[in-house]
Amino acid sequence: MRRLAFPGALLAAVALIAGGCGTGGKASSAGDQANGQKLFTAKCAGCHVLAAAGAQGTIGPSLDDAFAGPKAEHFKQSTIQNVVLDQIREASMPMPANLVTGQDAIDVSGYVAAVAGTNAKPAAQTGTDGKAIFSTNCASCHTLKAAGATGTIGPNLDQLKPSFPITQHQVEVGGGVMPAFKGKLTQAQIDAVAKFVSSSAGK
Ligand code: HEC
Ligand code: HEC
Repeated sequence: MRRLAFPGALLAAVALIAGGCGTGGKASSAGDQANGQKLFTAKCAGCHVLAAAGAQGTIGPSLDDAFAGPKAEHFKQSTIQNVVLDQIREASMPMPANLVTGQDAIDVSGYVAAVAGTNAKPAAQTGTDGKAIFSTNCASCHTLKAAGATGTIGPNLDQLKPSFPITQHQVEVGGGVMPAFKGKLTQAQIDAVAKFVSSSAGK
């Protein structure tokens, strides 16, 4: 797919979409921001940095960095939204295409367009609620019924039923495309999410 890592390429993509060459139709509204934030946390946060959502994923580019430039150059929010929408539809591995569709895709892209690159205050993850930590950091890649998570990048945890020590170790060091969370989450948070996964998987 198009690499949008360079500002030039991103601006070219913006121009292309502004010119009406995007696929699948343009967003007709900014969408529902609250639903957009919820879906971003569940489907995208594991791979992308987005300060306003408290997202710290590093598999994909930081969306704050990607859109700070276009924002500073006063591209319209609807134009940026259509770049994000296009990416959702045309993504290539490791980012799965069509993680969200229809109105949900409009809501997520509208939310990203509104908050990316704004230095909005992160909804800091300070607590040790294992389920909340899972939703923010793990749900985009793993299926786990207890958290309503349906990610398919990593193994289905309901089927795997990992023990506490295995989960704790995996979260600390990562593996494959799974990032290491040591340093990103506190030890208490790592223990809390490992306890949540090992006690709820398969139930
Ligand atoms: C499994 C990891 C993963 C998930 C989940 C994921 N992405 Fe991505 N995303 C990536 C990667 C990797 C790239 C870079 C792709 C490339 O350059 O080929 C990317 C690129 C992007 C870009 C382009 C950024 C730029 O620099 O131009 C946007 C926008 C984006 N993703 C939005 C989203 C949204 C919105 C979601 C949720 C619906 C999402 N991503 C879910 C990994 C992911
Ligand atoms: C970007 C996607 C991604 C994210 C985010 C992610 N994982 Fe993973 N996870 C994977 C992949 C891929 C594997 C298989 C990796 C391997 O083979 O080492 C995996 C493996 C695992 C395993 C299995 C370990 C084993 O030895 O069998 C557990 C447990 C796990 N992840 C828990 C989590 C938890 C808890 C979080 C959040 C703190 C998380 N993962 C975040 C992708 C992800």
